[in-house]
Amino acid sequence: MTDSLTVRDNRTGTEYDVPINDGTIKAADLGKIRTDEESPGLAVYDPGFVNTASCRSSVTYIDGDKGILEYRGYPIEQLAESSNFLEVAYLLIHGALPTKAEYDAWVHEITFHTFVHENVKEFMQGFRYDAHPMGMLMASVGALSTFYPEAADIKDADNRHMQIVRMIAKMPTLGAWSFRNAQGKPFVYPDNDLGYTANFLSMLFKMSEQKYEADERLVKALDVLFILHADHEQNCSANAVRSVGSSQVDPYSAVAAGVGALYGPLHGGANEAVLKSLKKIGSKENIPDFIKGVKDGNERLMGFGHRVYKNYDPRARIIKKAAMDVFEVTGTNPLLDIALELEKIALEDEYFVKRKLYPNVDFYSGLIYEAFQFPPEMFTVLFAIGRTPGWLAQWLELVQDKEQKIARPKQIYTGDRELTFTPAAERWA
Ligand SMILES: CC(C)(COP(=O)(O)OP(=O)(O)OC[C@H]1O[C@@H](n2cnc3c(N)ncnc32)[C@H](O)[C@@H]1OP(=O)(O)O)[C@@H](O)C(=O)NCCC(=O)NCCS
Repeated sequence: MTDSLTVRDNRTGTEYDVPINDGTIKAADLGKIRTDEESPGLAVYDPGFVNTASCRSSVTYIDGDKGILEYRGYPIEQLAESSNFLEVAYLLIHGALPTKAEYDAWVHEITFHTFVHENVKEFMQGFRYDAHPMGMLMASVGALSTFYPEAADIKDADNRHMQIVRMIAKMPTLGAWSFRNAQGKPFVYPDNDLGYTANFLSMLFKMSEQKYEADERLVKALDVLFILHADHEQNCSANAVRSVGSSQVDPYSAVAAGVGALYGPLHGGANEAVLKSLKKIGSKENIPDFIKGVKDGNERLMGFGHRVYKNYDPRARIIKKAAMDVFEVTGTNPLLDIALELEKIALEDEYFVKRKLYPNVDFYSGLIYEAFQFPPEMFTVLFAIGRTPGWLAQWLELVQDKEQKIARPKQIYTGDRELTFTPAAERWA
């Protein structure tokens, strides 16, 4: 067996041998296929990169048919069960688990950098009272590049490390302050006695008390949610970070692009849609009618189905357990009963079984966030905080990869050519 593809161009009768490596062919090799010297080479048309690999990556592995998700080779179930978000962030960024000394130094560094410059606070207070927190987060992460202009030197490893630490450390501060702005409440400074996730909750919810210490079970559940969202290989926002980062801009600007991508309803917004569906269904008795509507094509069962997972999304199983833990503290949400029943019915129904539609990460996450009393606009901000180490691991890989170039896709031009311009004064005369 030869690892190559023989292509016959029926326009010319010429045959080409295209090497196959790692299950891919190089698009540039197809570019050698042309009808004559003058004509452009053959290109691939692939809107949405549905079947195009844009990079080599050793960060995250997904097998959608088997329902497998691994960060740097470690199964997500084990990380969610026995690790914590900062250790997972270390793993994603450095590629290996830390020693005790490395872990302590990493936690110290991240904790040390949670504060932001006072000017950041001032401009964040300048947003309108009803500003969407995700818009505020995107703007303020991007603005950090103006506070750390040295971040532009992306070729220096120590410098890159410094910005990575700053961004992971400051995202919860920016996220919490975006939330407080919408609530008209004073911004709460980081409390560096607390762990990463406990400190985030303090910045979100602290009022006049001396110290805000959230219930440990809630801290753990949110920490697990951050772990589950920490990376998901070449998704829309990771691709945005890589695409913008490929211009060699500083990492704050690249991550701001990732936040922008996540802001979109097709990426970060499905959990809010799940909540809306559950509220619309209203009670368990209405589920059969709803399912009928889905089968008739009038509705979608939000939180079900995935482009990659054609099996139970491994994150959904972990989130379901986290939801139960949270409800133990906050009291149950009547929507949970509807969700559980809906899942049970859907998993036994031929329509869903045949199409391999299983619950995805968003099916239960909205319920948890609601139990924390987050408004829906905050859901994507939480996602962004969790995803930051993943974006940065992808960015780090990009800037060190010698095969990477500035992202610049081709197009199929469909417009006019060689028109003759008539000045406006003549056209309008
Ligand atoms: C995630 C999603 C966009 C993936 O879409 P996709 O890979 O392009 O899959 P398709 O839209 O081609 O769906 C394949 C089939 O399953 C059906 N289907 C997919 N998701 C469905 C859902 N959530 N409810 C009901 N039917 C669904 C489609 O109608 C289609 O049926 P058909 O073959 O009879 O036309 C899609 O499953 C979806 O919209 N899910 C709900 C939104 C959601 O939870 N998003 C979060 C993802 S993390």
